[in-house]
Amino acid sequence: MSQDNNKKGHSVNPAASEDGISKGLANYGDRGFSLFLRKAFIKGAGYTDSALERPVIGITNTGSSYNPCHGNAPQLIEAVKRGIMLAGGLPMDFPTISIHESFSQPTSMFLRNLMSMDTEELLRAQPMDAVVLIGGCDKTVPAQLMGAASAGLPAVQLITGSMLTGSYRSERVGACTDCRRYWGKFRAEEIGAEEIAEVNSQLVASVGTCSVMGTASTMACIAEALGMTVPGGASPPAVTADRIRVAEQSGTIAVEIARKRLTIDKVLTEKAFENAMRVLLAIGGSTNAIVHLTAIAGRMGFEMDLKALDRMGRETPVLLDLKPSGQHYMEDFHHAGGMATLLRELKPLLHLDALTVTGRTLGEEIEAAGPGFKQDVVRTAKNPIYPQGGIAVLQGNLAPGGAIIKQSAAHPKLMEHEGRAVVFENLEDMANRIDTPDLDVTADDILVLKHIGPKGATMPEAGYMPIPKKLAIAGVKDIVRISDGRMSGTAFGTIVLHVTPESAIGGPLAYVQSGDRIRLSVEKRELSLLVSDEELARRRAAKPVVVPTASRGYRKLFLQSVTQADQGVDFDFLMPPMTTKIPKT
Ligand code: FES
Repeated sequence: MSQDNNKKGHSVNPAASEDGISKGLANYGDRGFSLFLRKAFIKGAGYTDSALERPVIGITNTGSSYNPCHGNAPQLIEAVKRGIMLAGGLPMDFPTISIHESFSQPTSMFLRNLMSMDTEELLRAQPMDAVVLIGGCDKTVPAQLMGAASAGLPAVQLITGSMLTGSYRSERVGACTDCRRYWGKFRAEEIGAEEIAEVNSQLVASVGTCSVMGTASTMACIAEALGMTVPGGASPPAVTADRIRVAEQSGTIAVEIARKRLTIDKVLTEKAFENAMRVLLAIGGSTNAIVHLTAIAGRMGFEMDLKALDRMGRETPVLLDLKPSGQHYMEDFHHAGGMATLLRELKPLLHLDALTVTGRTLGEEIEAAGPGFKQDVVRTAKNPIYPQGGIAVLQGNLAPGGAIIKQSAAHPKLMEHEGRAVVFENLEDMANRIDTPDLDVTADDILVLKHIGPKGATMPEAGYMPIPKKLAIAGVKDIVRISDGRMSGTAFGTIVLHVTPESAIGGPLAYVQSGDRIRLSVEKRELSLLVSDEELARRRAAKPVVVPTASRGYRKLFLQSVTQADQGVDFDFLMPPMTTKIPKT
C-alpha cells in the first residue's frame, strides 16, 4: 500500500489550513465540499496527498510561439520546478497572457494592463503560497510586478534573460539598437535591399530579450534593484547555464518566502523604489521604465515625483557602458559581474537596508557578491560615461504635466535648441508625408507628432520618428522630435517623449501648428511653445478636441480608464489612494 493510501480522507476539512492547496476555495456554499472536490480533481492528475500537503508555489508560464523573447520558458519552468521540489514545495505552473513587442497590435502598451489584471486575478483565484513570475519582454515584467503588487502574495521575479548577439560581416550586432541603425542606413540609401535582408537574419541570434539596454534589460535591472529577483538575476543571457541556475534558485527562494510569509509589500517599499530609480538613471535605462516604475509604485500607493526624480538624476552618473547610450551588450554586462558590479559602485547612493526576496538586505547581498574585478563595462563614479542620469524631466507650457528626454542618447548640440515646428497630426499623417520630397523641413526644425498618447493611440513607441527621407539622404542623423508617445529603449536621438497632458485630451500639444517656434533646453529642463496664451486659447476655442472612445470590449475599458504618462498609464480603478510621494530625496 502506498504512503498515500494510508492518508485516505486526509485534510478535506478546510478549517485545518488556509494555506497551500486549501487556500481560496471555490464557493459552493460548503467549504468542506469545495476542498473535497478540489482534491478529487487534482488527484485526477496523479497527485498524492503528501504532495498536496506541501507549500504550493505558482509559476506563471508565459511561453508562447508568438513570444521568442520567452522562448526558453520550458527550460526555465523545469529548473524552477526542480528548485521548488528540492526545497520541499509543490510547483504548479499555469498560463497567463504573454506579450511580445512585435506581435502586439496596435501596441504592447495596450495589453500591459490586461496582462497585469490577468496575473493579479490568477494569483488571487488559484491556491498558492508564493509565485515565481517568469517575464522578460518589455511589458511582461511591469505587468507581472503590477499584478503581483496588487495581489500581495510572496513573489519572486524570474527574468527570461537576454538574447545572444549576432555577427554581420564580422560586425557584432544585436536587437534592437542595431536594427534601427541599419534601417536608418537603408532609408538613407547607404545600403540596399540585399544587405538589409542579410542583416535581418543576424540581429537576433537566439531566443531571449533584446541584447542592449532597452526596456526589457532595464526592467530586469530594476527588478533586481527592487529586491524582487535572486541576486544576479538580471543579467544572465537566456540560453546560458547561469540563467538556468537562477531559475532553480528562484524556485528554492519562493518556497522559503512562502514559509516566512515574506509578502511583496515587505520588499516593494519606498526605499526599494528609490534604489530602482537610482539604477534606472545609472544604467542609462529606457524611458519606458519611468512609466512602468510609476505604475508598479502606484499599485503600492506610492506616487512618483518626477521633479524629485530629475533632482536625483543630476547627482547620479551613467555608469553602464551599454548600447544605446554606450557600446556594449547585456552579455558583456553579465561577464562584468552584472548588477553586483553596478550596485557596488552605486553604494553611496543606495538604501542598503532595503529587504530583498532572499530575506537579506540589498547591502548584505552586495557584500556577499564579493569584491569587484577589472572590467570595462561598468565605469566608476569618477569616470562615468555620462556625468548625469540618463533621463531628464522637462517642463513648460507645452508640457504642464511634464515630458522626458533620454539625454544620454541625445545629440549634445541639439539639447539646447530653438526651432520651427513641423507638425504631423497623427501617425497616418506622418506616414503619408514624412518621406515626400516637398515636405517643408530642414535639419534645424523640430518634428512634432500628435495623438500618440495613452488615449490617442494607446501610446505606441512611435516617438522615435524617422528622419525625413530627404534629410536622411543628405546625411542628417538627428533632429529634435517631440510627441506624447513613447520610444523603444533601444532607440537614440534628441527625442522628447511622454508630453503630458496628451494631445487627445486637449493638452497644449494639440494646438501646435507648423511654423510655431519651440524651445528645448535640457540644461534648464524647459520645453516651451513660443506662442502666447491668448493665441493658444483662441486655437482651443476654434477647435475643441474630441476625446477618443470605443463602443465595446477591452478597448472601451482602456479608453475610459487609462491614466496619463505621469501616473504610469495604469487604469484608474486599479490604483489605490496614493499615500506617499517618492522619491523623498
Ligand atoms: Fe522582446 Fe525586445 S522585443 S525584449
